Amino acid sequence: MKRALITGVTGQDGMYLAELLNDKGYEVFGLVQGQNNPKKDLLAQTHPYVKILSGNLLDLVSLIRAVSFCRPDEVYNLAAVSFVAYSWENARLTSDVTGGGVLNMLEAVRFHMDKTGEPVKFYQASSSEMFGKVQEVPQRESTLLWPRSPYGVAKVFGHYMTINYRESYGMHASSGILFNHESPRRGPEFVTRKVSMAVARIHKNLQNGLSLGNLDAKRDWGFAGDYVEAMWLMLQQPEADDYVISTGQTHSIRDLLDVAFDEIGVTDWNQMVRLDDQFKRPAEVDLLIGDSSKAREVLGWTPKVTFEELIRMMVRHDIAELER
Ligand code: GDD
Repeated sequence: MKRALITGVTGQDGMYLAELLNDKGYEVFGLVQGQNNPKKDLLAQTHPYVKILSGNLLDLVSLIRAVSFCRPDEVYNLAAVSFVAYSWENARLTSDVTGGGVLNMLEAVRFHMDKTGEPVKFYQASSSEMFGKVQEVPQRESTLLWPRSPYGVAKVFGHYMTINYRESYGMHASSGILFNHESPRRGPEFVTRKVSMAVARIHKNLQNGLSLGNLDAKRDWGFAGDYVEAMWLMLQQPEADDYVISTGQTHSIRDLLDVAFDEIGVTDWNQMVRLDDQFKRPAEVDLLIGDSSKAREVLGWTPKVTFEELIRMMVRHDIAELER
């Protein structure tokens, strides 16, 4: 039985990945931070097979202990401060957790391998936010990185540190450059879920509109359930490498509103959407669109859920939640 350790197991990706690995017969360990973390109890109910370990990316000793306890074949480092807008208000914390935390996790794995001689494969959750002010369209593995937020800068540090550990120590360390990926489990602060929850409430006459920031930004949105499969595939390769994971299609926030409102039969949403500067960012990533041909060729990975299916799925889920 293979063993996997997932950091960030209580997040959207962590939960989908835990399910995938459990289905594949892995013993799944999940790192959860904090005392009395309510997410821990929730995870114990929804994913009872995950063996929860206590630890924090800022605390190297806790990571060394977690790795030596579960002796994983594979480590998936998904934990991060992941909300881009928050990273301007909390740049130091974001740098420490989202950037420095990767180094701590790599060190914990290296320490374990040195001590025991047991090989461990490592996955780092890198991000399309690293492309920022894009230097090439579409973005691929070789595109110059130009991050536009403290979050993006921190992710660049983690990305290059992963490559450096691969090159310096021969570690099987791969970095997945994942474009935006969403699901009904997405946190309500991210734009897709903010819209799907609001549209569901508007449908149920519980609110009459919503406030948003920049409607012209474009993102390459895929389904999180499809994307965790790519993470696993990367660690099954004989050689570690970096891969862009994306759909290859881009849509604006306006397109997102078109589909979400269409699901409840509204064709003109202009009266229901207010523009509010508080949701605008000091520096915006205007356009993301990924070229995932390397992942498609080498990993045999393809996304299955389309943008339109994804947004309709989220709205329908949020309506059903309200009805429950
Ligand atoms: N969150 C939010 N709220 N975004 C808004 C809003 C709003 O009210 N109005 C417009 N937007 C725009 C943002 O300015 C941004 O251009 C876009 O919607 C997407 O914002 P988010 O959903 O917050 O995602 P993100 O692209 O900033 O970051 C996500 O994707 C990255 C991968 O590229 C996060 O999941 C990151 O953790 C991830 O790395």
